[in-house]
Amino acid sequence: MLYLHKKTLGLLICTGLGLTVYVWKHVGPSGGNSLPSQEEAHLLQWISQYQNTVDESGVRVKEEIAWLALNVCSCIADKESFRLPFSNWIFPRVNAHNLDNAFLESRSDPEKVKVHRAQEYSSFQKRSYTAANGLIVAEANSPLQYPTQGVVVRPLKTIILPGSDHSLNTALGTFDVAAIVEGVSLKGENENHMTLSSPNLSTLNKQLSLVTYTNTVFHPRTAENVEFGTEDHRSFFTIKIQHKRTPKLYNSGHQGEYNISALVTLATKTFLRYDKLRDLINSVRKYYPTVTIVIADDNQHPQPVTGPYIEQYFMPFGKGWFAGRNLAVSQVTTKYVLWVDDDFYFTSNTKLEKMVDILEKTTLDLVGGAVREVTGYTATYRHTISVEDGGEEGDCLHIRTGHHHTIQGFPNCVVADAVINFFMGRTDKVREVGFNPRLARHAHLEFFIDGLGLLHIASCSDVIVNHASKIKLPWAKTDTEKKYDKFRYSFNTEDNELFNEVFYFTDRFKCMTSQ
Ligand SMILES: *[C@@H]1O[C@H](CO)[C@@H](O)[C@H](O)[C@H]1NC(C)=O
Ligand SMILES: *[C@@H]1O[C@H](CO)[C@@H](O)[C@H](O)[C@H]1NC(C)=O
Repeated sequence: MLYLHKKTLGLLICTGLGLTVYVWKHVGPSGGNSLPSQEEAHLLQWISQYQNTVDESGVRVKEEIAWLALNVCSCIADKESFRLPFSNWIFPRVNAHNLDNAFLESRSDPEKVKVHRAQEYSSFQKRSYTAANGLIVAEANSPLQYPTQGVVVRPLKTIILPGSDHSLNTALGTFDVAAIVEGVSLKGENENHMTLSSPNLSTLNKQLSLVTYTNTVFHPRTAENVEFGTEDHRSFFTIKIQHKRTPKLYNSGHQGEYNISALVTLATKTFLRYDKLRDLINSVRKYYPTVTIVIADDNQHPQPVTGPYIEQYFMPFGKGWFAGRNLAVSQVTTKYVLWVDDDFYFTSNTKLEKMVDILEKTTLDLVGGAVREVTGYTATYRHTISVEDGGEEGDCLHIRTGHHHTIQGFPNCVVADAVINFFMGRTDKVREVGFNPRLARHAHLEFFIDGLGLLHIASCSDVIVNHASKIKLPWAKTDTEKKYDKFRYSFNTEDNELFNEVFYFTDRFKCMTSQ
């Protein structure tokens, strides 16, 4: 009893702002107001397993809250009570559609499809999870045990708060309990103020482990700091309020060997160099006869480039380099996109399987290869990029040649922040970064600067594409090549100004260093 005197057993749970009282709607699968006792027992067992700490004695499930908190989703259609002409129009009914049956029914091997989807989802989760997402509960070294991070609630949904000791204060939600423990007095459940008290500490702790939080103010992608404590102790933790991110998984067939045509699309942009483009296509077809090639074309006098597995998209004249990359990448339907310049050509060293392999086996988003010049010189153009905080004037951008470290299991590959313009990336990630379409002629590193913080990048020196020609004596150039050079390599005042604007204004840098 001495112990009980020291602790404060009356815990106060309240919301800081006066919010509208939320009215519970019953959404449990039973559809009625009371649960058969068997089902209740089942639910309680579920909660006790989930919470790990709760035994079942003296506990009565508060079913409407428990169902909400347990994340058991199902799709149920409204019952049709009567049928009249236009009744659906007057009283819109909720329809339900079973996707698993509908899709899997027509597959020859549904189990294989399920396994494939599970694998793709698991690698998606691996790529999107960091230690900062995990749940951490601070153990009760003070009278308070509470989660320090990792509490997430979907907008307007309910969760059971992990940890066991709470007195909470919230602005964006309400508290309740998933089950009522005998011997605890509860006041103001589902309101802005809730008080829990009991003369018995262990009973109170049991009740506290069943406290739920419901988000009531709709504002996806936010968080709130929940204040909690007893009379003597105060502390905070954060609850993230966010929708679940919908993954983008590619159903590219599941084989032992990589099927490049099913996994990869080539994307390129052409301007004045149809001869080179045809050489590129012919060289690709030697090794990958059915891979799709997407061509963005902003020529003034476009020529059709036809053939199987070729898609040519025409753009207004001179839209430029990054606009073309955007267009080409936007049309890709495969898991990976391979960027190639129109004057590259494939050889037996252009092994796309190696790029697919590293992307499949790691959490990397993009992998660059190497480009071999006519002289035999091979370039990987690896760079590191960093941004330093610079206060009100803007930040400092630093670009250096080099890389960070090698990748275990892939001795020819290193991690870098920017790579050469021959790279394979996860299509959805490349799209997420995008290419600033204002950058028409001089742009490459800008994509990687935008990708900093979004992309995890590697560079592999053993996947090599050849460069048709770059260093050519001026008098040996054709008229078209001269015209191309004029567009591509002239760097006038206007270009300079755009470059400065993008770096100063768009990216908010005050200065940059590069190598
Ligand atoms: C508190 O409740 C538990 C059961 O929940 C019981 O075992 C214990 O004896 C009670 N303690 C006191 C001091 O009443
Ligand atoms: C590879 O993928 C393509 C495109 O999806 C498909 O047409 C082809 O049948 C696949 N090849 C094999 C061997 O599965």
